[in-house]
This record gives sequence, structure tokens and C-alpha cells, in this order.
Amino acid sequence: MSKDAVLQVEKLCKRYGNSDVLKAISLSVRPGERVALLGHNGAGKTTLMKLILGLTTASSGEISVAGLAPGSVEARRAVAYLPEAVAFHPALNGREQLKLFARLAGEPTHVVNALLERVGLDEAADRRIGTWSKGMRQRLGLAQVLLGRPRLALLDEPASGLDPISRHDLYSIIDEMAAQGTALLISSHALTEVEARTDRIAILRKGELVADDTLAHLSRRAELPIRLRLTAKGDAAAEIHARLGGARVNGASVELICHPDEKMDRLTRIAALGGLVGDLEMTPPSLEDLYRHFSGKDRP
Ligand SMILES: Nc1ncnc2c1ncn2[C@@H]1O[C@H](COP(=O)(O)OP(=O)(O)O)[C@@H](O)[C@H]1O
Ligand SMILES: [Mg+2]
Repeated sequence: MSKDAVLQVEKLCKRYGNSDVLKAISLSVRPGERVALLGHNGAGKTTLMKLILGLTTASSGEISVAGLAPGSVEARRAVAYLPEAVAFHPALNGREQLKLFARLAGEPTHVVNALLERVGLDEAADRRIGTWSKGMRQRLGLAQVLLGRPRLALLDEPASGLDPISRHDLYSIIDEMAAQGTALLISSHALTEVEARTDRIAILRKGELVADDTLAHLSRRAELPIRLRLTAKGDAAAEIHARLGGARVNGASVELICHPDEKMDRLTRIAALGGLVGDLEMTPPSLEDLYRHFSGKDRP
């Protein structure tokens, strides 16, 4: 574990009644680092965030937030939180709500206009929040998180309910916060482009941390198969199939599934077929395949 981590979690356990919701979780996040916290519904993501915020207490283990105890006044000042179901006052307009948050955070209210613009809400800001879409409320939540440059930001499922463009904006806001030195823990129940572009991926499976690594390392460790699809020239599909095996698809194609270590050997054999092959398409495992592998949907 690194000494300069903003968030340090060690052997953290949480029990609710008879059920172990978090089982000896150890995790750290350094300044400027973006960590995706992945897991299916009920895996324990929100519980971990609540423990870090000091909203609930651990059964055992340690948490330090910027060297402080979670929930202490100083720790609360260092942490920003975007809850899963972000709720605002429906009768206030966006500008009023954000000004209120700025005052509560001890920030000058003149920062509000720039923040609204940053999250793309400058035009909607003077309409009541009650009339806004989920995506707009999510953006207002992000504006709140940006207030006061937190040392640690906990974003609980910020991408859910966002359209692809808003997801893209979300990513650039996450990036900007990281560039300012904020440590980010971002939970999600899926592995999409947003999470794939973080620095590290931590996967919770039924309360256990089953992975904590970069995407590249996780991909290598998973050793998931690669799909090769060959399109035959003319009626050569039968001959290709006879020489390479695999499966016939759509009459004119042959599909081969191979282990990453066998890839070059397969390609050499395909090249030796010369004129029989019209085209070759190679599909690496998808983010979804990788997530399924680690989060255990395809395990007993
Ligand atoms: N206050 C609570 N009391 C009892 N059980 C809870 C409480 N909060 C969460 N749980 C249980 O803990 C598990 C993890 O929940 P949660 O942290 O919300 O998962 P996630 O955010 O990954 O979907 C679930 O089984 C949930 O039912
Ligand atoms: Mg949750």
C-alpha cells in the first residue's frame, strides 16, 4: 500500500445481520488516480462508499481519508460525494441550488456560473430542477462535486441513465478532476468505455475484491479467447474448414476461436492458405466479456 494514498482501506469488513457485505477489502487511491469500482447490484459498492464517508461504521478493518478518520469534520471537507440517486430541491432552479451548495461548502457563489457552464447546464440553470431530466440532475450533481476541489471524490454510478454524449462529458470532467489532483473512486455495475478509461479497475464480487489492476493487466490475466473470422474466396469455405477446423458460418465463412498465445501460429497457418482467403476479421474479447469473466456471471 502506498503511503501517499488519499484513500486507504485495509482489511475492511462490513456485516449486516448475518450477511458479510464486505469481506476484508483492501484498496488505495492516490492523488490524481481514477479507479473504477465495478460489481453487480448488491456487490457492496455503495456500502463501501458509505463507510468511506463515515455514514456507517465498519465491523472491522481500517479506513483513512487523507490520513483522517472517515466522517470527521476534516475528512468530510476533503471528500465530495455523488450519490446513486441524486436528489435536489425540486422547487429550486439549478443556479439557486448550486449557490446553496457553494455557501454550505464555504465557496464564493460567483464560482457557480462557471461550474454550470462546465457541466453544460448554463441554459437550463434558471428552470426549476423539478422539470429536469435524470441526465441533467446528474450533471448538477457533478457540478456540486466539482465545488471546492475535493481531495477525494466518490461517484456512485455516475454513468447510469446518461446518454452516450453525456457519458463522454462525464469522462472529461473525471479527467479534469484527476488532472487537478483529486483521487476518484467511480462505481458502476458495467464495464463501458468510461470505466475502461480509468487508471485502475477494482472488481467487487459478492463483497470480495476479486481484481484490482489496470485494464491491460486484467485483459492479459483473463486469457480470454480471440475470435478469427475468415471469409472464403469463391467456394473455398469447405477447404478452409477442412484444413483449419473451426466452425462454418453463413456458407462463405469459417470461424476460429483461439487462445491469445496461439494467435500468431493461427495467423501463420491462415497466411499459408494464400488465395483461398478473401478477408480476415479478428475480434478481441469485449469489455463485457472481461467484466463477465471477473465479476463471475459465467462462473458457478
Ligand atoms: N442498511 C442495510 N441493511 C442491511 N443490508 C444492507 C444495507 N445496505 C446494504 N445492504 C445489503 O448489502 C449488500 C450490498 O449492497 P450495496 O452496497 O448497496 O451494493 P451495490 O451498491 O454494489 O449494489 C446487498 O445485499 C444489500 O442488500
Ligand atoms: Mg449501489
